[in-house]
Amino acid sequence: MTTSQEIRFGIIGSGGIARRFAQGLAHVDGAKLTQVWNRSAQKSQDFVGDFGGHVAESVESLLASDIDAVYIATPHTSHAQYSIAALAAGKAVLCEKPAAVSLGELEAVLAQAAVSGKLFMEAMKPPFYPLYRKLRETLLADPIGPVQFVRTGFSIPDVEPDSRLYQPDLAGGGLLDVGVYGVFLSVDWLGAAKDVQVQGRVAAGVDTFAAINSQHHGGWSQVYCGLGLSGAGDAMLAAANGHVVIHEKWWHPERATICYTDGRKVELHEPAEGGGLNYETAHFCELLRTGKLQSPVLSHETSRSMIRLLDHAREGLGVVYPFERGIIGSI
Ligand SMILES: NC(=O)c1ccc[n+]([C@@H]2O[C@H](COP(=O)([O-])OP(=O)(O)OC[C@H]3O[C@@H](n4cnc5c(N)ncnc54)[C@H](OP(=O)(O)O)[C@@H]3O)[C@@H](O)[C@H]2O)c1
Repeated sequence: MTTSQEIRFGIIGSGGIARRFAQGLAHVDGAKLTQVWNRSAQKSQDFVGDFGGHVAESVESLLASDIDAVYIATPHTSHAQYSIAALAAGKAVLCEKPAAVSLGELEAVLAQAAVSGKLFMEAMKPPFYPLYRKLRETLLADPIGPVQFVRTGFSIPDVEPDSRLYQPDLAGGGLLDVGVYGVFLSVDWLGAAKDVQVQGRVAAGVDTFAAINSQHHGGWSQVYCGLGLSGAGDAMLAAANGHVVIHEKWWHPERATICYTDGRKVELHEPAEGGGLNYETAHFCELLRTGKLQSPVLSHETSRSMIRLLDHAREGLGVVYPFERGIIGSI
C-alpha cells in the first residue's frame, strides 16, 4: 500500500451507526465505501442507494472482494466473530465499540490480528476529535499536573422497550453500550484499573444502572451509566494544579474548560465536522497506509484495559449473558 492509496471499505451491518459511519466517510480524504453486507438484502440495497457502493451477497463474498478494510457495525455479540473472519481474510478491521463482549473474546481477536499481521482498531471515537487533541496539546504546553481523578457518566433516557439494549442475548445493558465511554476516559488518563467496585441495578438480565468506582495506576475514577435515566454527562479530570471540564455529551467533545488553581480559565471550542466518526476513520486510514498494526491513540492494550474493567463491573453486578452460561469462569 502506498502513502496516498485510496482505502476501500466494506461494511458489515447497516443499522444506525453504519449510516453515521458512511456519512462521515464522505469527509475522509482518500477513502470510499465499496461493499455493504446486511443480513437483509433489502436493507443492504437501501443503504447502497443512500451512500453508494455495492451490495455483497454474503459476508464471504464481501471478504473475498478487493476491499482493504472492514468496518463492523453489528450488535456487540457478533463483533469478535466478524473481526476474526475479516482478519483471517487479510483485511484490516475497524470494529465498533465494545470490540468484544469480554476479555476472552478480545484476546481471540487480537491473536488473529497478530497471526494475520493486519491492523485492528476499536472504534472509540472521542480521542480523535479536534477538541480532545487540542486539550491534550494545551495540557502539555500549560500543565495542571498528572490527572489523578476522573468523574463522568452517560445514561440514555428514552430507550424503546424492544431495543437491543434490553436484550441479554445481544449483550444489552448500559455498561457495554455507553459505560464503555467513561471507562475509556478513565483508562486513557489514569491507566489500567487495579481494583473495581460497582453498585447498580439489573433487570431482565441486563444492567440498567451501574455506578463504578475504580482505582487505577494513576488515580481514581467514578463512572455511571444506565438505561432509562437522563445523563448526557460532562466529564471532569482533576489534577494538583487545576481541573478540566469536558462539557455535556463529552463523548462528542466540542467544548472544554481548563480551570487552573492560580485563577486562570482557558476555554476550548473545537466544533466537530462530518458527524465525528470521520476523525477516527481518517486516523485508521493513515495507520493502514503507513503499515501500522495498531493505533498509538487507541492501542490494543487500551482495548484490553477497557473490557477487563467492564468484565469486573459486570461480574460485580452478576450479569451473565445467556451465551456465556457454562463458560463464566472465563470472565
Ligand atoms: N461509536 C458510536 O458512536 C456508536 C453509536 C451507536 C452504536 N455503536 C455501536 O455500534 C454497534 C451497532 O449499533 P447500532 O446502534 O447501529 O445498532 P442497530 O441500529 O440495531 O444496527 C445493527 C445492525 O446489525 C445488524 N445485525 C443484527 N444482528 C446481526 C447479526 N447477528 N449478524 C449480522 N448483522 C446483524 C442489523 O440488521 P437488521 O437491520 O437486519 O436488524 C443492523 O443492520 C453496537 O455495537 C454499538 O455499541 C457505536
